[in-house]
Amino acid sequence: MSTTTFSPSAAFQETAVASPALFDAARSDYEGFWADQARRLLTWEKDFTEVLDWSDAPVARWFADGTLNACVNAVDRHVDSGHGERIALHFEPESGEAESYTYAQLKDLVCQVANALVELGVQTGDRVAIYLPMGVPAVVSMLACARIGAPHSVVFGGFSADALRSRIEDAGARLVITSDGQYRGGKTLPLKSAVDAALADADIEDVRVLVHRRTGMDVAFQEGRDIWWHDIVPAQSTSHDAVVVEAEHPLFILYTSGTTGKPKGVVHTTGGYLTQAAFTHLNVFDVHPESDVYWCTADVGWITGHTYVTYGPLVNGVTQVLYEGTPATPHKGRWWEIVEKYGVTILYTAPTAIRTCMKWGPQFPREYDLTSLRVLGTVGEPINPEAWLWYYREIGGERCPIVDTWWQTETGAIMISPLPGLTTLKPGSAQQPLPGVDVRIVDTLGDPIEDETPGLLVVATPWPSMLRGIWGDPERFAETYWSRFDGLYFAGDGARFDEDGDIWLLGRVDDVMNVSGHRLSTAEIESALVAHDAVAEAAVVGASDDTTGQAVVAFVILREAYVEQADEEGEGGDLVAALREHVRSEIGPIAKPRDILIVPELPKTRSGKIMRRLLRDVAEHREVGDVTTLADSSVMDLISKGLGS
Ligand code: PRX
Repeated sequence: MSTTTFSPSAAFQETAVASPALFDAARSDYEGFWADQARRLLTWEKDFTEVLDWSDAPVARWFADGTLNACVNAVDRHVDSGHGERIALHFEPESGEAESYTYAQLKDLVCQVANALVELGVQTGDRVAIYLPMGVPAVVSMLACARIGAPHSVVFGGFSADALRSRIEDAGARLVITSDGQYRGGKTLPLKSAVDAALADADIEDVRVLVHRRTGMDVAFQEGRDIWWHDIVPAQSTSHDAVVVEAEHPLFILYTSGTTGKPKGVVHTTGGYLTQAAFTHLNVFDVHPESDVYWCTADVGWITGHTYVTYGPLVNGVTQVLYEGTPATPHKGRWWEIVEKYGVTILYTAPTAIRTCMKWGPQFPREYDLTSLRVLGTVGEPINPEAWLWYYREIGGERCPIVDTWWQTETGAIMISPLPGLTTLKPGSAQQPLPGVDVRIVDTLGDPIEDETPGLLVVATPWPSMLRGIWGDPERFAETYWSRFDGLYFAGDGARFDEDGDIWLLGRVDDVMNVSGHRLSTAEIESALVAHDAVAEAAVVGASDDTTGQAVVAFVILREAYVEQADEEGEGGDLVAALREHVRSEIGPIAKPRDILIVPELPKTRSGKIMRRLLRDVAEHREVGDVTTLADSSVMDLISKGLGS
């Protein structure tokens, strides 16, 4: 295979943060390596004596007898070490006045919010749901929770009231922090009303609601339950004694889609998570905190926003940009305007965004001065070489290394990535595991593959930021990740080595889809569809899509009473539109199917399992593959005929 590669420039090599010595250190003493990172990158209240306890596998304990506070590490210690005047956050709203916060100002605000949480009765160990748009209150709320040792559960502002309710219930949240509404894509959208709807039906008592005013839109207020942020936060003291917790104290829960209909509450703890967040942020993005301006475009509702907006960058004391809006609001050059305005040096985004910009054309970025950029990153899905090269040329001016970072909500931090200044880059490949990360590729029996045969990605040794479990469901944790291969963490991704030993990710091997870098479960969308009156049965697949990577395509069997209506309306009729809307309201806009195809039957094996592989063939307009295991092989003819193909 002839792939163009890009060697690091000599200038870059001289100043690179990462060094080959890191790999040597990790190879010669794995635990000692991570202990060094933990001590070097974090401030501990009490040092630890034990590094890793794997005796209770698959639950790892890292640095367990050490104590610390995550917020102190992200904020206070920069003020204490004389960097209080450094900008922590440049907030760029979708429209209107930008705001900047120094580390000292951030500390004052976080302390006020922490004091407000305490006044609202939140105690160490209580869970707090955060349902806020991208912005300073979201980051500050997370840090305030961390400051009092209350695990946060951030729910992406694009999720529906139903999705929010199930997350509030599952975590048993005591408080929900939200805003009246949010600005998105030039529109003003409500948020608080979804909290009201979620709590109206929630099987939970004594939840308080703290409401930040973002848009000024009218909201309903429930006496005794709801309180305005501006009525409680500014009145608080700007000092607060952070609650020192053990390294294994849960820092947050973050829900992600799995192979079943019910999202999993992935639990991350404090010491190990912060160690790997800070280590990877520093080395993968080649961070020089005194001079860099870093911008990660992810929303804090996703793991990328947790690790590479809130925790990693702030623990490393960097200046970063937070942008509220979409890339095209009010014009298609908006992102590049922001890069120019703040002199962004490090940009981390998703392949789907790059493909969208590529489609819009290079004239938009070319209008702006992007020469401040030094390092570019991508995450969330494989980046196709064509998009990689466009990013490299049009955005990075052929001088910026691109780090294609592979990781997951569960891994907590980056696991596989090139390192700027060290790695000769290969477009489309995430390349090498980071130092201290033991990734392998195995066959279906769990035996290691060393040649170029495709296999399954596993992690063979515990890593500091690994998930510690699924909230309230230890069995599901063991079953999902640890039951397939003895002693190996099964990531759910296919992968292969190339002839140089570089890793190429091949996509999910389970029923999880990846749409615009967002993880969606086929089962979750199927159960939303069958909850609609018109639907008897549904099967959902992820079909490849030029912009979003994969797109949701649903095959639906209607109940008798609706068949006639659908026949009359044909494709694009009201019923199909109503079903797409239904998924949107049950889960959120990101889950809305691109296509809904009404079919008379679904292809099933003799044991009744839907053969998604065949549906994917139909959705991707391919010739349908091997049908010999179908219970009724004429079904595919029926489907194809029904769809007029
Ligand atoms: O399939 C992999 C894909 O995204 C999945 C994890 O999704 P999530 O937990 O939502 O986290 C996304 C942000 C870390 C993985 O199982 N994925 C993530 N990064 C890459 C990737 N696939 C290929 N290349 C990547 N760089």
